[in-house]
Amino acid sequence: MALEPKTFMRLMEKRIGFTKEDKDILKLHANWGKEIAGEMADYFYAHLSRDSETNTILNNTAGRIHRLRETFIQWFHEMFTGMDDWGDTYAERRWRIGIVHVRIGISPQHVVPAMATVVHEVGKRIKTDGKEEALRDALSRICMIDLAFIEQAYIEVSSTAVLKETGWTEGLFKRLVTTGVGTL
Ligand code: HEM
Repeated sequence: MALEPKTFMRLMEKRIGFTKEDKDILKLHANWGKEIAGEMADYFYAHLSRDSETNTILNNTAGRIHRLRETFIQWFHEMFTGMDDWGDTYAERRWRIGIVHVRIGISPQHVVPAMATVVHEVGKRIKTDGKEEALRDALSRICMIDLAFIEQAYIEVSSTAVLKETGWTEGLFKRLVTTGVGTL
């Protein structure tokens, strides 16, 4: 079940419909992305602070919020530059972000609303700044790709751990999951 980040990236690009035109418009607005990253980080952390569970995680260790603000700004800007044109480095970085969240125990129920906040706030800013709709569409698509990496990390990490611990085959594991669903 080991995930290959670059293969997953290509698959998500295809499924989500992230095109060359999307990449071009993002690159064109890379400076604008950098300019608004701090404001987006503020919305993001205000959102996380309103929920008692995420607020506890944010304040768990000294300096965490400060560190997170910096990593958010960098993450946000990378969506515009694509790092290596949304290539292997980009895919590896996104996979790594997913793994970090699984390790800390931040579940999809927190990550999805957080990403929805980013998409919503950036959409508002695009409107205020009179930017084209195509930029909003491109940003929404790359946000969904990044989200897919974090979500997929949960499946990969938990199934790999179960297979390792039990010695089950992938086939048996999948069968147990599908039959188990019937009891829910
Ligand atoms: C849109 C969804 C999210 C994005 C894009 C995002 C982005 C990031 C990035 C880029 C990192 C740095 C990863 C690294 O060290 O390599 C990180 C770490 C982290 N994130 Fe998120 N995050 C998201 C959702 C959340 C949520 C919902 C929480 C809940 C509180 C959270 C809490 C954390 C924490 C605690 C760390 C580790 C900070 C540290 O101690 O170094 N993140 N995140």
